[in-house]
Amino acid sequence: MSFNIAIDGPAGAGKSTAAKNAAKELGFLYVDTGAMYRTIALYLLRNQVAIEDEDALERALEKISVTLSYENGMQHMFLNGEDVSGLIRTQEVSDMASRSSARPAVRKKLLDLQRDLAAREDVLMDGRDIGTAILPNADLKIFLTASSGERARRRYLELKEKGETASLSEIQKEIEERDYRDTHRETSPLRQAEDAVLLDSSDLNLEEVVERIVSLAKERMQ
Ligand code: CDP
Repeated sequence: MSFNIAIDGPAGAGKSTAAKNAAKELGFLYVDTGAMYRTIALYLLRNQVAIEDEDALERALEKISVTLSYENGMQHMFLNGEDVSGLIRTQEVSDMASRSSARPAVRKKLLDLQRDLAAREDVLMDGRDIGTAILPNADLKIFLTASSGERARRRYLELKEKGETASLSEIQKEIEERDYRDTHRETSPLRQAEDAVLLDSSDLNLEEVVERIVSLAKERMQ
């Protein structure tokens, strides 16, 4: 039996970096489900699919194959065989991923891929509905969050480091809008599973978050 860890939480809580590092320390496969939604979003953007049109969306999804591979522990995403890992981190893709992931057909498309991975491997899977919908029987569930102000500050510093100009208040507004969309959508809204451990990272640095995840996992594995 594989050991499954589900980590859910809002945008910018530092989930992906913390999850990646914790997975490495535990020797688990890190599965970034956001990247899967981003891969579909890239196709939808490239082909200008009207995502509100149920039939058009269904037709488009039939033409999409999402696969992944791991190279030195790094997850690579493939869209119909093309490695798109370097193309899915733009603002445009983020926005489309957020909008299209609210469509039930999109979520359904990724369900089996996520469950199959978890059944085969010890995974640390990060997303929005992993503990509530994808892996309801996960061995450990963590809801990782931070205040919207702190999340905005982190994203601001990240952009600044990349040499991009950004407005802190603008970023905070975007984060709050995305939170609203993620928590109010009908299909698989973002919420803490009843049996999830709440981890608020507002006052914790990356190492402290990783340490907490690893120690929770080790406790459960005993
Ligand atoms: O890293 P960031 O929080 O910006 O986004 P992400 O985790 O890469 O996810 C991209 C988008 O996909 C988010 O806006 C989520 O709404 C959506 N998503 C989802 O609906 N379910 C998941 N399991 C993972 C992501």
